[in-house]
Amino acid sequence: MRRAVYPGSFDPVTYGHLDIITRASEQFDELIVGVLRNSSKTPLFSVNERVKILKEVTKKLGNVRIESFEGLSVNFVRDCGAKVIVRGLRAITDFEYELQMAQTNRIMAPDIDTMFFVTGLEYAYLSSTTVKEVASFGGDLERFVPPYVLEEIRRKIGEKN
Ligand code: PNS
Repeated sequence: MRRAVYPGSFDPVTYGHLDIITRASEQFDELIVGVLRNSSKTPLFSVNERVKILKEVTKKLGNVRIESFEGLSVNFVRDCGAKVIVRGLRAITDFEYELQMAQTNRIMAPDIDTMFFVTGLEYAYLSSTTVKEVASFGGDLERFVPPYVLEEIRRKIGEKN
């Protein structure tokens, strides 16, 4: 079975992530989306909420599984029985960070390769950080995230205020 892992923060998942998830799921028998339980960042959504949201917005993709993980991505990839890490590249600005991460992962785990999917042009500008920024000022998020995510962001911001 050809299995790949797409690790990330997904705080929250955007249409850009969904573009990568959909296209990567067409290239592999199974795609596992790994949500990092990252204690060094202060996320808007807890890891359990991010997993729940991802499950909801990917429910029509039969070969996509959502899991959370802690620690190194390569260890999680190995635990999943996969050999490929999927990442999205939006623009040249992503490249340096992604290359450094891919090289580091390859040194740690030479048996695991990183495959990059070029994000669709229509989502090249989009990031979870900008979504949160726009949300915090009450801006329109319809073109950035699916309706379910929009509702969850509204609920979360409502809870905080
Ligand atoms: O969505 P993000 O925040 O760009 O995802 C980054 C992520 C989770 C892929 C990266 O931070 C990661 O792999 N973290 C786990 C720790 C790790 O494996 N670090 C080594 C790579 S430098």
